[in-house]
Amino acid sequence: MRIVSGIQPTGNLHLGNYLGAIRNWVAMQDQAAASGGQSFYFLADLHAISQPHVPAELAANTREMVAALLACGIDPKRSVLFNQAQVPAHAELQWLLNGTARMGWLNRMTQWKDKAGKNREGQSVALFTYPVLQAADVLLYQATHVPVGEDQKQHLELARDIAQKFNNDFCAEDAPLFTLPDPIIPPQAARIMSLRDGSAKMSKSDPSDMSRINLTDDADTIMQKVRKAKTDPEPLPETVAGLEGRPEAANLVGIYAAMAGTSAGAVLAEFAGKGFGQFKPALGELLVASLAPINARFVELRQDRAALDAVLAEGAERARAAAAPTLTAAYAALGLVR
Ligand code: TRP
Repeated sequence: MRIVSGIQPTGNLHLGNYLGAIRNWVAMQDQAAASGGQSFYFLADLHAISQPHVPAELAANTREMVAALLACGIDPKRSVLFNQAQVPAHAELQWLLNGTARMGWLNRMTQWKDKAGKNREGQSVALFTYPVLQAADVLLYQATHVPVGEDQKQHLELARDIAQKFNNDFCAEDAPLFTLPDPIIPPQAARIMSLRDGSAKMSKSDPSDMSRINLTDDADTIMQKVRKAKTDPEPLPETVAGLEGRPEAANLVGIYAAMAGTSAGAVLAEFAGKGFGQFKPALGELLVASLAPINARFVELRQDRAALDAVLAEGAERARAAAAPTLTAAYAALGLVR
């Protein structure tokens, strides 16, 4: 079991990142460690330059995100934790894979289409080849399992296509270079929605801070955000089917279930017939209890820039060593003399 995953360092982590991705990273780190496998987690800072960005903010966000990952339970002794920019093999392998990836494949990526919108001609080349860098990220380490959100499934399929074509075109049939990675999508809580609009994803770019719960929020702030979360006047239904057409109610029940490690059905069994006046305080308390230790560690860790840089430096050294054999084999397979 070789686990590899990345996250863009685009600012504060919020509840959606935690429940959708990070918590799953921690679980898989523990699983890998228990079964003699390995986990690699990185900050996708090279991906972050595919769209307009402020350099000073990228640097600050990168360190901030390391602090958040450590606070959430990523353990740099058990996982290799690093940022792409300190491991040149990512950019190198991307270039090598650019010879294998097809324009048509990239043109079909929904994330490219969404982000580029009507203005494809005005986008950076990096945004277009973003999925090739992502393929390099995982193929470099011979990843078997890649924990991601639902929205990244297509990029993982592309990574498999690239790996397969490269193996076909440049390797002997009995000696493929790249392992085909499987996406691992957490079944529950993959999608946490805004507290203000049950049809929009919880997002760090939402202008309203009331729409999300940040890992930096203290207990009072969390309670207030839950109290003010948008709902409807109806009491909670008896079954999950009764949440249909009630996106805000469904979202709050989903958050409760994810946080408590149970199902929406089980939450409704407890709260059916009760109004939000009763449900919201219970949800707020559950969130505070679970997030308070993370918040406390985060607030402490983020002040120690030297310690964060040391974690990244050590992770990068281990990542460079792990990446070297595959990168060397890829150069050789392509007939590149070095
Ligand atoms: N594109 C991913 C996202 O936006 C982040 C990412 C970059 C990633 N490289 C990766 C995820 C490799 C998994 C594996 O969420």
